[in-house]
Amino acid sequence: MDTSPRISQRVQDVEMSGIRKFFQEARPDAINLGIGQPDFPTPDHIKDAAIDAIHRNLTGYTFNTGVYELREAICAKFERENAIAYTPEQVIVTAGAGEALFIAMTTLVDEGDRVLFPDPGFVSYEACAVLAGGRPEGVALDETLHLDVEACKEQMDGAKVFILNSPGNPTGTVEDAETIRAIVEYADDAGVTVISDEVYEHFIYGKEHASAARYGENVVTVNATSKTYAMTGWRLGYMAGPAEVVSQAVKVHQYCQTCATSISQYAALAAYTGGNNCVQVMKDEYAKRREILYDGLKRLGFDFPKPEGAFYMFVPMSREMFRAIIDAGVVIIPGDAFGNNADNYGRFSYAASREHINEALNRISSVTRV
Ligand SMILES: Cc1ncc(COP(=O)(O)O)c(C=O)c1O
Repeated sequence: MDTSPRISQRVQDVEMSGIRKFFQEARPDAINLGIGQPDFPTPDHIKDAAIDAIHRNLTGYTFNTGVYELREAICAKFERENAIAYTPEQVIVTAGAGEALFIAMTTLVDEGDRVLFPDPGFVSYEACAVLAGGRPEGVALDETLHLDVEACKEQMDGAKVFILNSPGNPTGTVEDAETIRAIVEYADDAGVTVISDEVYEHFIYGKEHASAARYGENVVTVNATSKTYAMTGWRLGYMAGPAEVVSQAVKVHQYCQTCATSISQYAALAAYTGGNNCVQVMKDEYAKRREILYDGLKRLGFDFPKPEGAFYMFVPMSREMFRAIIDAGVVIIPGDAFGNNADNYGRFSYAASREHINEALNRISSVTRV
């Protein structure tokens, strides 16, 4: 008899993310422009609030949905920054945006349901759809890496969920309010729930962020402290949406997570009530690095539109050029890690120091020079 554990087909059907592999293969002195996390420390007032929470023994379970004061602060943030009115009962605090995406998808998707997401897109979308029993279906982007509204509408008929991500990972694309509105309104009419992943909302250079939930009822908003406040390791995010979705999603959250870490919740409370000067400082620095990386890559002969958001550049290049950049000691991520429509791209992150970006450009110049 075969005594080996029998693994579910759903889990077998999901691959590990292709991102990590390139860190393992890289030269020991490689410059890392692969990683998608802020390189800033978490601001002091946020760290102090967490330390204070520990000293005040706020270290037990919280409500499943999260500390009430934090959910109030998140609602105030939605009102202030996104012009959306949510009540604390419409918010679940989660272990990062990653958990929020997972529980939203598990709550909404039945066996065989079609789940649409941008392709190329963030690696979790397809995996969460498969784990929820759904059928993932990429929505191809146009040549400027934006969504094509008419194509989205066509694909939306009969689908269950449409995932929006603006600013986008890996593309850095920011969609206009008109695009978001058109998709959300069509989805509302077609009975498709939009999950809007807005984790990069604060990192936009010259455009305005448009929150999907402003334009329709059937929208679940996913966000986190992770990127905004340089808090990736604190694992603190949230989902907010229609009361009937949230009251069901809390069951999934309860049975896998119970509640987000209490200490991180108090840190997040300080983040959302402490003003956004610290975010502006990080944004200003990203903006400068963006100029350096974009100008440098253009000078080296790479040709692509300047992405308006997040901290990524998704750059068209041959597989040979991708390999040469890795061999020259610069880690970037291959386009095919993000879907089926981006084989000839590499993703650069500029969440790295100016010094590292300049040195990376220097190393790349040795392989682009003929
Ligand atoms: C678009 C997008 N959504 C969600 C996440 C996950 O965020 P968190 O660390 O809060 O789980 C990431 C992380 O890279 C991301 O890029």
